[in-house]
Formats: sequence, C-alpha cells, structure tokens
Amino acid sequence: MKNLELKFDKSQYQVFIGQDLLDGIGKMLLVHMKPDKVAVITDTNVNRLYGERIKKSLDAAGIQNGILTIPAGEESKSLEQLNLLYEGLLDLEITRSDVVIALGGGVVGDLAGFASATFLRGVRLIQIPTTLLSQIDSSIGGKTGLNLKKGKNLAGVYHHPVLVVMDTDLLKTLPEKEIISGLAEVVKYGAIRDPKLFSLLENVKDNAELLRYPEEMIYRCVKIKAEIVQRDERESGERMLLNFGHTIGHAIENIAGYGRYSHGEAVAIGMAVITKNSERIGLTEKGTANRLNRLLLKLGLPVSADGIGTADIIKAAAFDKKNSGDSINLVLLSKIGESMIRKMKVSDAEKFFAVGDVSEKSGPNEID
Ligand SMILES: NC(=O)c1ccc[n+]([C@@H]2O[C@H](COP(=O)([O-])OP(=O)(O)OC[C@H]3O[C@@H](n4cnc5c(N)ncnc54)[C@H](O)[C@@H]3O)[C@@H](O)[C@H]2O)c1
Ligand SMILES: [Zn+2]
Repeated sequence: MKNLELKFDKSQYQVFIGQDLLDGIGKMLLVHMKPDKVAVITDTNVNRLYGERIKKSLDAAGIQNGILTIPAGEESKSLEQLNLLYEGLLDLEITRSDVVIALGGGVVGDLAGFASATFLRGVRLIQIPTTLLSQIDSSIGGKTGLNLKKGKNLAGVYHHPVLVVMDTDLLKTLPEKEIISGLAEVVKYGAIRDPKLFSLLENVKDNAELLRYPEEMIYRCVKIKAEIVQRDERESGERMLLNFGHTIGHAIENIAGYGRYSHGEAVAIGMAVITKNSERIGLTEKGTANRLNRLLLKLGLPVSADGIGTADIIKAAAFDKKNSGDSINLVLLSKIGESMIRKMKVSDAEKFFAVGDVSEKSGPNEID
C-alpha cells in the first residue's frame, strides 16, 4: 500500500492507495476518526457491486450506517438529487459529528462532496473513489459540484475530504470504456509533469498489463495532482496545467453533443491537436506529437474528431467558463514531461489552429 499526506491552508488528510482496502474500511475509520454514524452515498451500479461489502465492514466495526443510492450517470449531479440526499441524511439523523462516505466515481464524489459540504454547514467527508478517473483526479483537490440546466459544474464549493481510500481492486469491475477514458488523464499527467510515467505507459504491452498492478501509476498521478493543487488551491495559476487538452476537449464534448465522445476521448483529441499545432510553430520539441499520438492510439484513444472544424472549436473554447474576455489560456507541452501556460488572444488562437484541422485523419499510418 502507498500513502500520501496532503496539506492545505485549513485541512490536511491522508490518501491510501492499495489492494483489498474496502473490507477494512470499518477498522480504518475506528483508527482515524471513530464516528458514531456513517452515511454512505453511492450509485446504483456501485451499490450492486460493493454496497453489501462496505456495510458488512462498518457493521463489524460497530459503526451505525445507512446507504443512500443515486441513479448511476451524469444526470444525477442535479439539484433534484441533492435535495433527495439532504432528505436521506435527515432520515438517517446524521449530525455534524458523523461522517459521509462517497463510494463511487466522480459523479458520486462531486454530489456527495457538495451535499456533505453544505448539509448542516459541513459534515466530514471520506472519498472512496471507484473509477480510474475518480482515483487519479476528482477525489483529490477538494472541488465538488453539480450541474445546472445551463451547463456542467456551474454550482460548487471547495470541501476537502478528511480521508481518501483508493482500493485498486475495485477497478477490476470497471467497464473497459471507463478505463480507457481515465487513461487519457493518466497520459495528461505524464505529458505535463512526469516523463517516467509517460514511459511506463509506453512500455506496457496493453491495457490489461497496465491494470494488473495499477498502484504505481495511480500513485504517480495522485502525487502530481496533489503537488499542483497544494501549491494552487484555488486555480489561479499552476493548477491550470491540469487543463492540458481540456479547453479543446470541452469544446469537442460540447459541439459533438455530450455522450458522443467520453470525457477522456475528448481530452485525448484536445492533447493531440494542441501538441501538433504547438510543435508546428516551434514551441514544442520535435517528435513530441508523434510520441503522444502513438501512445494515445495504443491505449485505445482517438487523436482526431470527425466532422469538427477549427472554427467550431475556437468558438466553443472561447466560451469555456475557464476562459475570460477575448483571450484563452492554452496549456502546451515544451516536451514530454514539461508544460507551460500560454494566454492567447482568440484571434491568435485562430491562426494557431489554422493548419491541421481537428477532423483531419491521422491514423497510425501517419506516425513516423
Ligand atoms: N471534482 C473534481 O475535481 C472533478 C475532476 C474531474 C472530473 N470530475 C467529475 O467526475 C465525473 C466523472 O466521473 P467518472 O468518470 O468517475 O464517472 P461516473 O461517476 O459516472 O462513473 C462512471 C460509470 O462507472 C460506474 N462505476 C463506478 N465505479 C465502478 C466500479 N468500480 N465498477 C463498475 N462500475 C463502476 C458508475 O456507476 C458509472 O456508470 C464528472 O461529473 C466530472 O465533472 C470532477
Ligand atoms: Zn478531465
């Protein structure tokens, strides 16, 4: 098992990463916080797979508990589901000395995070992320959120957990498409900060081999995210590096209609497109785009988007909520493992993307 300690202005917590941790959660809670009562928030899929196991572990430790289940899927990050959770927490008579556990992917983590941050003005939260994306990304950093009619994550607060437990065995039941989507973010971490992680991904035969012992890979990602968010808790500078591939990625998700590309697929295309263009104008070391494309394709990720043009991308990217006024922040690689933030006028961004359409075919045969 690996472990990291995160320190922020007003909070500090441990992250445990390892195999076979779920069944020991009751005992772990007794060591770390001795709550009288726990509300486990999970979704329908995760409850079916792991609900009984977590209950058994909490029962065995003598901790009163109840499970609140939301429907699986992004639509659950809604005010309606939040309201149902508040009612569930009241029915369980959760008090400020009790604990909420978020057992699930990023959807559960974001919604349970928001609920625990606001219920009774704040109840302690434990994250037990069950998807690759939530283990390497959303359970770390304290962002919570839900979607409003006009867009994703438009309501949210920062609320750090008091403990994060990542059981890598839980990934064994995760559908392949969710694994592949999460791998795009792993590539992102390697590309922006960790050439060794990038090589680790390059050197495995296939995804099955990568997922046989995912602890090291997850640890490296968490370490990078932790380092960055500890230095820049409120996303004023360095944290933007974590948006590599995301400005274009969000635009692609938007234009194509949510659901056509997974988040990871859209980010993969975003990383590939931006790197191709930044290499073309000499900001990125030669050969980087090829290396990135080759890895993404090997992992099962796309590097281009059919039917989406540069103009559409710029238009959508300029409206991304993280960009302001007439400029957009783009994260570029100087080489694999090193990244930088470039603020660009929208008009310059148009020139930047002018050559090499997003929809341009660039299959494996294009890689030298
Ligand atoms: N707070 C943050 O910093 C942050 C960062 C990135 C993403 N997010 C949010 O995270 C969400 C996406 O998270 P996600 O990709 O984990 O999606 P998700 O939570 O929807 O999970 C994906 C699917 O996998 C299922 N599942 C979860 N764990 C499983 C397991 N172990 N075995 C089998 N099935 C399992 C879920 O039921 C769901 O159907 C988005 O809403 C996004 O906005 C938040
Ligand atoms: Zn992402």
